[in-house]
Amino acid sequence: MSDYVSFECRGDIAVIAVNNPPVNALSQPVRAGLQDAFAAAGDSQCRAVILTCSGGTFIAGADISEFGKPPADPWLPEVLGRVESMDVPVIAAIHGTALGGGLETAMACHYRIAVSSSKLGLPEVLLGLLPGAGGTQWAPRLIGVEAALDLMISGQPIGAGAALKAGLIDRVAEGNLMEAATVYARELIESGAGPRRTSELAVATAHLPDGFFDGVREQVAKKTKGLPAPQKIIDCVESAATMDFESAIELERQRFTKLMMSPESAGLRHMFFAERQAAKIDDIPQGTPIRPVNSVAVIGAGTMGGGIAMSFANAGIPVTLLELDNGALDRGIGICRGNYERSAKKGRYTADQVEYFMGLISGTTSYGDLAGVDLVIEAVFENPDIKYDVFRKLDQVCKPGAILASNTSYQDLDAIAAVTSRPEDVVGMHFFSPANIMKLLEVVRGEKTADDVLATVMKLARKIRKVPVMSRVCYGFIGNRMLDGYMREAQMLLLEGATPAQVDGAMQKFGMAMGPLAVADLAGLDIGMKARQAIPDLPDHPSTHVADQLVEMGRLGQKSGAGFYRYDPETRQRIEDSQVETMIRAEADALGIEQKSFSDGEIVERVIYPLINEGAQLLDEGIAQRPGDIDIVYIYGYGFPAHRGGPMFYGSMIGMDKVYSRISEFRETLRADDWNPARLLKTLAEGESNE
Ligand code: 3HC
Ligand code: NAI
Repeated sequence: MSDYVSFECRGDIAVIAVNNPPVNALSQPVRAGLQDAFAAAGDSQCRAVILTCSGGTFIAGADISEFGKPPADPWLPEVLGRVESMDVPVIAAIHGTALGGGLETAMACHYRIAVSSSKLGLPEVLLGLLPGAGGTQWAPRLIGVEAALDLMISGQPIGAGAALKAGLIDRVAEGNLMEAATVYARELIESGAGPRRTSELAVATAHLPDGFFDGVREQVAKKTKGLPAPQKIIDCVESAATMDFESAIELERQRFTKLMMSPESAGLRHMFFAERQAAKIDDIPQGTPIRPVNSVAVIGAGTMGGGIAMSFANAGIPVTLLELDNGALDRGIGICRGNYERSAKKGRYTADQVEYFMGLISGTTSYGDLAGVDLVIEAVFENPDIKYDVFRKLDQVCKPGAILASNTSYQDLDAIAAVTSRPEDVVGMHFFSPANIMKLLEVVRGEKTADDVLATVMKLARKIRKVPVMSRVCYGFIGNRMLDGYMREAQMLLLEGATPAQVDGAMQKFGMAMGPLAVADLAGLDIGMKARQAIPDLPDHPSTHVADQLVEMGRLGQKSGAGFYRYDPETRQRIEDSQVETMIRAEADALGIEQKSFSDGEIVERVIYPLINEGAQLLDEGIAQRPGDIDIVYIYGYGFPAHRGGPMFYGSMIGMDKVYSRISEFRETLRADDWNPARLLKTLAEGESNE
C-alpha cells in the first residue's frame, strides 16, 4: 500500500500495519497511508480489521515536527473519522507506547487489546496542547470524566493493567500480540458484535456535583500557574458532558488550533526537541563504543556525594562512598537513608525498596576498595589542591579504563586531568543540588577526554534519569557562568530601588521556580562570599555589597533564619524585612546610586538579558554546542520556565535585534563593562533586522 502503512487480508481479517520508525509518529504519509488502507479494508470482504504497528511501539503521537507548519492533508481527525465509521469491528493491537494521537487512533478503533508492558497516555499538555483529534471527547466516554481529566491534565501515561481497569482497553494480551488480537477479532466476528463506536457512548455525568468543572478549574489553575492548555482541556471535557459530539469536536478543534499558535506551546515543543538534541555530541558518531558501567564510587559523602550515590542506587547500580573518616561516612550514608525514608513516608517507596536502595550503597575510607569500579565521581570540597590529591590517588588505584569524573562547579577540568597519567579518562559530571532530584547533568568535555568516555557518560546519564548537556571547559561551565550576570543584575536592582520581594516577585511571575534572591538565601550567602574571596584579585563590584553586608550581620540565608528575607522558624515562610531595605538604601547612598521604581517588565529585562548575552558568548566560544543546549541547562538546572523554552529561545521569540538594542542601551546608561554585547548577539541581531 505504501512504505509507511501496509494492508493485507489474512483470510477474512484485514491487517493494517504502520511502519514509521522510530516511534510510528503520525506524519503526513502515515495519515495518507491509513486513509488509503482503511478505504481498502472498507472495499474488501474482510469481517474485522486489526490495526497494529511495526518496531518497538504503537503510534506514539502526531508528528511534533509538523506542528506550527502549514497543515498537510489529510488531517488526523478526518482519518480517525474514517476509522471509526468502519462497518466491521476495528481492533487496535497495542504494544510500547500509545500516546497522544496514537491513543486517539486507538480510541477511534472499536476495540483495544494491549500487551501488559504497554503504556497509554495523552501527553499533549506537556507540549502546551490538548488532544486535538477527538481525544477530549473519546476519553471521557471510555473512562469517565474524572479519569479523563487526570490523564490529560497530568500528561502521564498509565500501564495496561490500569488502562484495563479504567476501561481504556478491553483486554491485556497474553503471549504474542498479533495472535491474541486475531483470537479477539475471531470472537467478535463469531459473536456478531459489530462496531462499537466510542463517539456513540454516553458520557456519565449524573454523579458529578454542581460546580464540578469550576472546582477543577480553580484547583488546576493553582497547580499549573495559569498555563492555558490545562484550562482548555477542562473546557473541552465539560463540553463532552454538555454538548453533542459534533459541536464538542468543533470546540476541541478550535481550542487545539489556538493552543498550537500559543507561545507556551512553541516553547514546550522547542524544549522537546532540544532535550533530545542535547544528548548528542556533534563530532562523536552514534554507535561509538560504550564502556560498561556496572559499579560506581563517589568520593565525598557531603551534600552532593550522597545525592549522586542515590541517583545510581535508584537505577540499580551499586555505589561505594569514600570519605575521610568513619564519622563523615556514617553521616553521609545516614543522610541517604533519611532521604529514602522521608520518600517512603510520602508513599513513593515501600520499606523493601528503601532497603534495596540502601543495600546498593556501601562505604569505605580506603582507596584500595575502588580498584575494581568502572566509574569514580569526585565530590569533595571545591578546592583545587584537594581535588588534585584525590585524582592522583585515583590514578594509582583505579583499573585501566575506569572513568574518572569530577563534580566540580568551577575548577579547571584540564588541570585536574593533568595530574593523572590518563587525562583521556577524565571527564566532568556536574550534578545539581539536590543531586538525587535535579535532572540536569552538565557533562564537561576536557581537552583530552576520550570520545568513548563522553559517549558512555551521555548514555549513562539517561540510565540514571538525568538530562545530559555537554559543556567545554570554562569557569562555571554553561550554567554557573551565565548565572553571574543574572545574580549581578538582581542585586544591582536592589541598590537602584527595587525591594527583594519585587525582584523575586517579578521573576516568579515570569515563571522562574524561585526568584534569584530567594535562591541565594537558600544556597547560603556565605557560600557566595567565600567563593568570591577564593578568586585571586577579583575586582570589587557594587552588586555584591548588599549580600556581603548581610553576611556580616550574621544573615547567612535560610540556614540562619534570615538573609535577604526573614524566615518564619516554623513554616520557613519568607517575610519582607524593613531592616534589609534600610540597609540597602544606606548602601545605595554611600555608593551614590539613585533609587527609583521599576516595573516587572524592566526587572525581567535586566535579569534575563544577561543570560541571553552570556549564552551567545558561550556559543561563540564553542563552550556550548547549540542554543537549545543552553535552554535545557536553564530549564532543568535553574528553574527557568519550560513554557518559555529557555533563555535563548525566549530571546529569539522577543527578537535578538530587540535584545541587542536594549543591552546596548543598558551599556550606555548603566555600567559599560557589565553590558558588553556578545559578538554573536550582534551578528544575530543584524541578521534579524536585515530580514
Ligand atoms: N513526533 C516527532 N518525533 C518524535 C515524536 C513525535 N511525536 N516522538 C518521538 N520523536 C522522535 C524524537 O525526537 C527522537 O528523535 P531523534 O532520534 O532524532 O532525537 C526519536 O523520535 C526517539 O525519541 P526518544 O529519544 O524520546 O525515544 P524514547 O524511546 O526515549 O521515548 C517516546 C519514546 C516515549 C515515544 C517519547 O519519544 C515521547 O514521549 N514522544 C512524544 C510523545 C507525545 O508527546 N505524543 C503526543 C504528540 S502531540 C499529539 O499527538 C497531538 C494530537 O492530539 C493531535
Ligand atoms: P560538602 O562540603 O557538602 O561535601 C564535601 C565532602 O567531601 C565532605 O563530606 C568531606 O568530608 C568530603 N571530603 C573532603 N575532602 C575529602 C577527601 N580528600 N577524600 C574524601 N572525602 C573528602 O560539599 P558539596 O556541596 O557536596 O560539594 C562537593 C563538590 O560538588 C564541590 O566540588 C562543589 O563545587 C560541587 N557542587 C556543589 C553543589 C552544591 O550545590 N553544593 C552543586 C554542584 C556541584
